[in-house]
Amino acid sequence: MKVLANDGMDAIGIEMLQKSGFEVITEKVAQENLIDSINERKIEILTVRSATKVRKDIIDSCTSLKIIGRGGVGMDNIDAEYARSKGILVLNTPAASSNSVAELVIGSMFSMSRMLYDSNKQMHSIGATQFDVLKKKYAKGTEVSGKTIGIVGLGRIGQAVARMAAGLGMNIIAHDPFIKEANIEVNVANITNVNIKVVTTNMDELLKNSDFVTLHVPGGKLIGDEEIAKMKKGVCLINIARGGVINEDSLIVALNSGKVAHAALDVFVNEPTPNLDILSHPKISLTPHIGAATEEAQERIGIELANLIIDNYKN
Ligand code: 3PG
Repeated sequence: MKVLANDGMDAIGIEMLQKSGFEVITEKVAQENLIDSINERKIEILTVRSATKVRKDIIDSCTSLKIIGRGGVGMDNIDAEYARSKGILVLNTPAASSNSVAELVIGSMFSMSRMLYDSNKQMHSIGATQFDVLKKKYAKGTEVSGKTIGIVGLGRIGQAVARMAAGLGMNIIAHDPFIKEANIEVNVANITNVNIKVVTTNMDELLKNSDFVTLHVPGGKLIGDEEIAKMKKGVCLINIARGGVINEDSLIVALNSGKVAHAALDVFVNEPTPNLDILSHPKISLTPHIGAATEEAQERIGIELANLIIDNYKN
């Protein structure tokens, strides 16, 4: 009963597995050595986050594998259907990180509306000598309260974003091909429960009316030149979903022209080596794919994944 947790696992999840008799290996095996390592150690359960890729070659070559566990939501790094067709159980933890991802969306909105990402950099370098210049440069912030957030994808994460945005006094519009309306309960300091109804609209309406557009879809190419052309001038874009959901070339053109005021990106085409034009752009707030990287989310993920493995292994 060997588990290789190749992208790590929260300590509580590891302890739960150990108590149930599993040996848990957390040493990181490089992608190119993974097949040999799994075969030599006869690993039955492989858990990953987004860094390790579990493609057909691994699935075909590693006959000891019984379970592939994704500690997180996105399964784009796993050939999940293929694995299932070979009798391997593929598990993930779709709900555990929603709150953390939504908080990063809200943080990114403030980062853009007050230019925090840029002012922070500038203060480090010239804050002591050009304070007044910087005070003037960052004097044109805007409030998010009263602005409209367009949420594309009203699943668990999109709804968590709506809940927080409502608490900030934002107008919410959403687009989701599978959801017509959602009732979202907002807890205000655990005192009051307010139910808000979010009715989804078509994509064009959302693009036309939003001050912030945030995307919560599993992947694909959603926003390019055509979609940006339909947006308000000065819109802010957020991609904490998957690299490429906003076309990176279109984004740079739109930022340079001023059509898009700022963007916040947590995910990139070509991770872990993002495009340098994106990384060096002065109007992009950047984080290194940390949407689910909070202590709380990782603890919930570890516990859920451990329970899923324990429950399913014997069957
Ligand atoms: C996910 O799909 O769960 C998120 O993108 C987080 O990915 P990570 O586990 O690599 O942080």
